[in-house]
Amino acid sequence: SAYAAPLAPTFTACHDSTDPDKKAIDCCPPTAAAADITDYVPAATKVNTRLAAHLVDDAWLAKYKKALTAMRKLDDSDPRSFKAQANVHCAYCNGGYYQDGYAESKLLLDVHSSWLFLPFHRWYLYFFERICQKYADDDTFAIPFWNWDNPLGMFFPSIFNDTSSPLYDSLRNSNHLTKVLDLSYDGTDTSEGTITVIKNNLITMYKQMVTQATTATAFFGKTFRAGDASDPGAGSIETTPHNNVHRWVGDPDESHGENMGSFYSAGRDPVFYCHHANVDRMWNLWNSLGGQNFTDSDWLNSSFYFYNEEAKPVKVFVKDCVDTKLLGYSYQTVDILWLNSTP
Ligand code: C2O
Repeated sequence: SAYAAPLAPTFTACHDSTDPDKKAIDCCPPTAAAADITDYVPAATKVNTRLAAHLVDDAWLAKYKKALTAMRKLDDSDPRSFKAQANVHCAYCNGGYYQDGYAESKLLLDVHSSWLFLPFHRWYLYFFERICQKYADDDTFAIPFWNWDNPLGMFFPSIFNDTSSPLYDSLRNSNHLTKVLDLSYDGTDTSEGTITVIKNNLITMYKQMVTQATTATAFFGKTFRAGDASDPGAGSIETTPHNNVHRWVGDPDESHGENMGSFYSAGRDPVFYCHHANVDRMWNLWNSLGGQNFTDSDWLNSSFYFYNEEAKPVKVFVKDCVDTKLLGYSYQTVDILWLNSTP
């Protein structure tokens, strides 16, 4: 577009989002005054390790439960409450913000289906994790990742499947909770056996991470600048398996596949943050395979706003999230079998 510039949301003027029935739904965080918002640049002095969800131990699990229990108890009006954290996704994905400078033309900012997808969700998880650390009373705590690219992780992570746990959510597809995960699930259950599904999953991973991810645009998604219409086009991993896993988890008996199967509700299921940690891990892996991030200044200078663990509003930039070590985390090293799974 003629006046291209980096994108930012009109955070101080959040308005109702629109649910899939086109009904207004209030997903806004507390109103922030522009003067109270500070720019935030991470400068971690230590690096915590995000663990594969199927490999965590009881002591770790106790911490995560402690954090989520506390966050679920906070008043919904507290931006650190579990409810408010879920609504971050709704506001950023279901039309809660116009693009800064384009409020009059009602041009929305959606963080999906563009080059903003990976950086937005990275920052979102970053603050979610810091809130967890605060309420777990442990600044070495790190959220888990759903290792769906490894055969041992191609099942619904059992820690989220204990009905008495704060990690549980009842709106899920109960037929899928003990079945092998199909990374290319399109709404119809495959009739293939477990071994075949796993093999196909590995081939899918190779395709999405290597064959179809040869450029930054192919991997991250299409360019999205101020003044552009939302959803210019998704990158390889966002399309598959990211979207498929959402759909696979959501409850098909709910009208919109709630919770995981719809943007406005996805963050209400604790497994959302675990799924997205693995999506985020794919960015690091793609870089380690030689993938080069965008150098376009409109990408680097695009910004988002969040409430941090002290319930203070902060502004963050894409350029400050490209190195997860500076954000204070890395991912547990696990076998990457798909690297040898050429179709
Ligand atoms: Cu914001 Cu998994 O989508």
